Amino acid sequence: MGDNLSPIIFIFAAIRMETQLLETTINTVTQKIKNLYIESYGCAMNFADSEVVASILLENGYNTTKNEEEADVILINTCSIRENAEQRIRHRLIHLRANKKRNNELVIGILGCMAERLKKNLLEEEKLVDIVAGPDSYRDLPKLLNEVEDGNKSINVILSLEETYAEISPTRLNSNGVTAFVSIMRGCDNMCSFCVVPFTRGRERSRDSESIVKEVKELSDLGYKEVTLLGQNVDSYLWFGGGPKKEFVNLTEEEQTKSVNFAKLLEMVALVDDSMRIRFSTSHPKDISDEVIYTIAKFPNICKYIHLPAQSGNSRILDLMNRNYTREWYIGKVNRIREIIPNCGISCDIISGFCTETEEDHKDTLSLIELSKFDFSYMYNYSERPGTLAARKLEDDVPEVVKGRRLQEIIATQNAVSKLKNKNREGKIFRVLAEGFSKKSNNDLKGRNDENMVVIFPKENYKPGDYVDVLIERSSTTSLIGIVVGKSEKP
Ligand code: SAH
Ligand code: SF4
Ligand code: F3S
Repeated sequence: MGDNLSPIIFIFAAIRMETQLLETTINTVTQKIKNLYIESYGCAMNFADSEVVASILLENGYNTTKNEEEADVILINTCSIRENAEQRIRHRLIHLRANKKRNNELVIGILGCMAERLKKNLLEEEKLVDIVAGPDSYRDLPKLLNEVEDGNKSINVILSLEETYAEISPTRLNSNGVTAFVSIMRGCDNMCSFCVVPFTRGRERSRDSESIVKEVKELSDLGYKEVTLLGQNVDSYLWFGGGPKKEFVNLTEEEQTKSVNFAKLLEMVALVDDSMRIRFSTSHPKDISDEVIYTIAKFPNICKYIHLPAQSGNSRILDLMNRNYTREWYIGKVNRIREIIPNCGISCDIISGFCTETEEDHKDTLSLIELSKFDFSYMYNYSERPGTLAARKLEDDVPEVVKGRRLQEIIATQNAVSKLKNKNREGKIFRVLAEGFSKKSNNDLKGRNDENMVVIFPKENYKPGDYVDVLIERSSTTSLIGIVVGKSEKP
């Protein structure tokens, strides 16, 4: 039957090819290549998404430029996580509107989480942009851009249950040629009460594991040495053939057989190229399993580093945050990780001054930092986000000055822990992947060790992409400084 069909397919393919050729010719005659400038804010997922956007638009006649002055189209990929993140973007957009006065043809579009949260308000009330495109609508961007050329404003903020941009090979932007992000899932189903992400990114869905492996292989072929697998909650990754998240127990027998969980995905990715490092972010303390921790331990090229946001060290606050674990559970996870991987780097996210937080609750957070000995943390004042569970049900009752003072105490506690941990790394040798020049000097290279600590060392004849063994001589709160004592082909 296949043989009977093949001539028909052949003719059909030939007609299609001819049409495509014709279209390409028309495009080159009527359409000049346009310059696209993309600026990204927020988390790594936004930076990865911008690379998908660049790829989609490249196919449609837009070349990326690093110079906003020569852009025909400026797209800002935005973040809504805290009020000040949105404020920063608003200021930037107001500045860009001024550019538009100089160049009336300039098209300005807003993408990402703020586009999804504010929807048509950005077009109507705030009159800041021409295009508003939410995180699941990037395939529609060529059409949205055409609509704007016809003199309209355009918007697509429809969230999807399926979209993962699985087969799109991202165009790497601002790449150092050594490290790259690979998105493995989208959305989040967790509903932490403070968090806007489930509203801006929609329901959780996992990307086809084969397309992930393919992308990692392409990166390896291009000479990349490190990939970071990205998701808001990577431990709940589960590929079973597509669609919104389901628990393993709710899969059909067929889906169960072909399913790939996060531990399995890590293994598949680690096996692509043993000279390539694998990282991942973010792990949720309630979901990270022994299977995942053992997989990290098993493969030398999976970095021994876990970003494990606690948010607070107090069980009552964690309950109000809807995090689904207690202080004791969290400490148990940290202990388990260190039991299986003794020198595993662990970092944390912490929110200061969540609704109803008392001085005693705050002290629990300080003691959690000391007990867990995080290598570093990202620390923030609580910022109420419209529409979240906390905004609807709880009062943002910790005064800003108190949040600020507690945040300073959190930072000071973490800094003291980091400083001591780094001091203990002096005299030790770490394998480091060189990523680029250090900020301060072109005579020094900068990279990270397995545990994700920044390491600085003299450049000599080494180059980005090299694995070197560095003997640590000095340290600060944020970095390790040393000399190269060896070179390696492997992580
Ligand atoms: N998915 C990740 C975090 C994504 S958001 C996780 O579950 O940990 C990154 C960090 O921003 C969060 O870990 C949290 O510390 C912080 N954050 C989120 N919402 C916030 C808010 N409303 N105010 C202050 N910080 C917030
Ligand atoms: Fe937000 Fe919680 Fe989802 Fe992280 S897990 S993105 S904090 S809702
Ligand atoms: Fe910000 Fe959206 Fe990421 S709100 S942190 S860009 S998922």
